[in-house]
Amino acid sequence: MVETPAMRPEDEPGVRFTPPELARRLARIVRDGTRGVLDPACGDGELLIAAWETGRGRGLRAEQIHGIERDAARAATARRRLAHATGRADVATIVVADALDPRTPWPADADVIANPPWVSFSGRQSATRDARVSAAASTAARSGWPSLHGAFLERIAEHVAQHAARAAVLVPAATCELDGYGAVRRAVTALARLTSAPLELGESAFPGVVEPAALIELEPWRPADAADRRGSRESWLRAAPDDAMRLAALDDHPRLDPACFGDIGVHTGNSARQLLASTNAGDPFVREGRDLEAFRIGPPRLRLNVALERTSERRFRYGDFARYERTPVLVRQTADRPIAALHTAPTYFRNTLLACWPPAELDPAFVVAVLNSTIAASWHRLRFLDARQRTFPQVKVAHLRALPFPFVRRSSDAERHDRIASLVRGFGAERSGEDARRRARIDREVELAYGLDAAATRLLRDRDPREARS
Ligand SMILES: C[S@@+](CC[C@H](N)C(=O)[O-])C[C@H]1O[C@@H](n2cnc3c(N)ncnc32)[C@H](O)[C@@H]1O
Repeated sequence: MVETPAMRPEDEPGVRFTPPELARRLARIVRDGTRGVLDPACGDGELLIAAWETGRGRGLRAEQIHGIERDAARAATARRRLAHATGRADVATIVVADALDPRTPWPADADVIANPPWVSFSGRQSATRDARVSAAASTAARSGWPSLHGAFLERIAEHVAQHAARAAVLVPAATCELDGYGAVRRAVTALARLTSAPLELGESAFPGVVEPAALIELEPWRPADAADRRGSRESWLRAAPDDAMRLAALDDHPRLDPACFGDIGVHTGNSARQLLASTNAGDPFVREGRDLEAFRIGPPRLRLNVALERTSERRFRYGDFARYERTPVLVRQTADRPIAALHTAPTYFRNTLLACWPPAELDPAFVVAVLNSTIAASWHRLRFLDARQRTFPQVKVAHLRALPFPFVRRSSDAERHDRIASLVRGFGAERSGEDARRRARIDREVELAYGLDAAATRLLRDRDPREARS
């Protein structure tokens, strides 16, 4: 039996299991070529299951999944759930141990995904003696406001630095800005850097928890000088001063005509089940957001019950098949950056996909390359996602209409335009080992197409959010 989150006991201070949707959000750090995933406070394994779901198509093997959990019963549940999810008994390693005890080894090279216990040792929250003992392992957690989540964060930053790993960690948003956590921020930034500004999840990220949450992502870095090596107490929520400059660097580029983007997808209204449950082989297929990844569109899994009639109780909406069929590019709507693919084997699509009709002077494959580029991702993140309290980001038609675009007039470099388009068309139906290299090449070519100077390109690349390079 699959154990669901609703059945999980959460009777310990600071222990709140991650809702599945948020777990999937964290799992996005699992990229092609990952060397493993570790959750050092894995509870019953929700984050590891999300990591497996995301990572299995990206080369993650079941034996590269690692969890550490102090509570033996939760660890046993995690083992069972992972065996069920991976279809392989006891391949994932779940260790019962105190992850903060220096004698507990963390698997080298694994990327870290964590929702550590949120326990402060001062103020109103009380902490168990055990928790205090584990946290004593960290230096920062002993100064300022000592806390278990601070101690975990510091240990995770150490791991990131030692193994050139990446990490996604859920913490109380206060950790990112309050003075009492300055020592933790200093310890963390002496070792690693934030991939992008923390994603503020607000007060509703965890059912029953009012404390605002934030998701931070860490990556390794090489401090330039001694001052950098000491880290900084500065708030992580203040907008980076370079951000305005990064956006300005792109502003000179034109936008595509607003009519190039539209939201014409099938709205299932209140009738999703009847509309999409067709088993009639004569019914046309319908794709949805999850069928699309960057550069690639998968086979549709659903059929549209075109015989279903609208009534006053049954509300749904879709247009003529020809409109869908004549849409050359699709963009995912539920993402924190544009993710696009050519609409090959075209059919109906749901409103979790947005439509793009490139102008005649641009090859649709070139448009796909630009939409998937690091620059477009950074721009989207800087422009739309640093706003506070955005839990589950979306790419909207308005965002796409506002995206600065290179080569709209196609005068500048026809050769580069064609080269990029043919690289995009070179993606086969199946993933291959060549993909990462091809993506990197396309990304570089798009950077050159934007024609930004090296400093501006570096600034935007530095803010490469989440999956941009995956
Ligand atoms: C907030 S829960 C998160 C569980 C899971 N990662 C999730 O997101 O659903 C934190 C878990 O950390 C465990 N824990 C607390 N202190 C720990 C320690 N020092 N070492 C390992 N696990 C610990 C708790 O037992 C609890 O299951």
